Amino acid sequence: MPAFSFESQAGQLIKVGLALSSTRVLGDLLEMVLLEARKLTGADAGSVYLVDGSVLRFETSQNGTLSERLGEDACRALFKTYELPLNAESIAGYVAVSKEMVNIADVYDIDPSAPYRFNPASDRANDYSTHSMLSLPMMDQKDEVVGVLQLINATRETPEGKRVVPFDSMCLPVVGALASQAAVAIVNAKLTMALQKSWLDSVLRLGLAAEYRDKETANHITRVSEYALLLGRNLGMDKNGLELLHWGAAMHDTGKLGIPDSILHKPGLLTPEERATMEYHTLIGALILKGDSNPILMASQSVALTHHERWDGNGYPRGLSGEAIPLFGRITALVDVFDALSSRRVYKPAFSMEKVVQILGEERGRHFDPTLVDILLDNLDEADAIRTTHADTEADFEKFRNYSLLKIEDVL
Ligand code: C2E
Ligand code: SIN
Ligand code: SIN
Ligand code: SIN
Ligand code: FE
Ligand code: FE
Repeated sequence: MPAFSFESQAGQLIKVGLALSSTRVLGDLLEMVLLEARKLTGADAGSVYLVDGSVLRFETSQNGTLSERLGEDACRALFKTYELPLNAESIAGYVAVSKEMVNIADVYDIDPSAPYRFNPASDRANDYSTHSMLSLPMMDQKDEVVGVLQLINATRETPEGKRVVPFDSMCLPVVGALASQAAVAIVNAKLTMALQKSWLDSVLRLGLAAEYRDKETANHITRVSEYALLLGRNLGMDKNGLELLHWGAAMHDTGKLGIPDSILHKPGLLTPEERATMEYHTLIGALILKGDSNPILMASQSVALTHHERWDGNGYPRGLSGEAIPLFGRITALVDVFDALSSRRVYKPAFSMEKVVQILGEERGRHFDPTLVDILLDNLDEADAIRTTHADTEADFEKFRNYSLLKIEDVL
């Protein structure tokens, strides 16, 4: 018997969303800083290292020559994040520890009395020749080193072609200013990320609580999010839109937290009164997720409120129709029902894919946005793969049913 675990699907899912949203803020910032610094100095390549406790972490790298040779994506894939000890043995480490800028004409000809050495491993691995290198400490308002900006191979156009030259000391003040501006932006981005993380953490707990109540649909949240992403990708949504959709879809039934067990877990059909109570899960969800300070909350609220609206206007709670229903709500409406039909519920067995497809066809332009139905039907193989990968197992139901599996060690 597997140990009782709160590491549910929803938890995993939402943590991935968390990692994505936090790395992107900082990642984009570092890319931008590096690009500007390369433009200012005519550097062919460059890297950014960030101080993280007692190590210096290599975060971002750009290389004009390798991008041209291999393509942008292949070049990016070459550079894996790694750590350097925070000491004077590497050039970047020396800069971080000493807080001094280091301008080296040729890294293969460093004065032997210098405390640092150039590590040629990455040159060899990438078939690249580093010569000139300018490394600057990025210091925040408190004069603490946030990271190191390292620029490689200042390049000058000559009649004979491009030549690598030493970094011109004329450019030092302006790159230095850019490095300190970057440091301040990095500190701010980290603060924003910490704040966002604590926000998202509360939302995550809501998702877990909702899943815990909704015993019969252990992997429902994961599947609905994955189906929604499948549609979003086919609609050409960008990364940011997909991330919001991922969260919104994951939180769609949060309002079921407020529905009594006697209704939520009723094995048979609901009476009209029970049905009316059940429909309040849209409003309850929208109330729980209300907020205008965070795009993820706003998307989640919108989906919670609108995922039972119908294209023909006969849905609830507002009877919106057509494109008056927000797109995320229209997407979630379709994939939520697709999942309800193709899975077992307390009140119904799982239907065959044939029957599911038939119902979707009948409801095209009635319950559902016809464009979205077409996309789902065009990608049925991929949807079915999601269904199989995240199928509910007896063990999934068991962990919600059998409280005696819960031990004190699991909660402390
Ligand atoms: P759910 O189980 O996640 O179902 C989501 C939606 O899938 C339903 O929204 C409905 O539009 C669709 N759906 C589910 N089963 C069928 C089906 O057999 N045929 C067709 N054509 N559509 C189906 P709806 O009806 O607004 O229900 C919302 C939630 O209310 C459901 O979420 C479920 O938690 C609960 N519920 C609905 N009907 C019953 C019922 O008869 N008994 C019980 N115990 N709960 C029900
Ligand atoms: C350094 O020594 O600063 C790192 C150089 C490298 O590994 O490319
Ligand atoms: C240094 O900046 O200390 C090294 C000078 C050099 O070897 O180019
Ligand atoms: C939203 O702005 O998407 C939520 C409000 C609404 O559903 O109209
Ligand atoms: Fe719902
Ligand atoms: Fe649902």
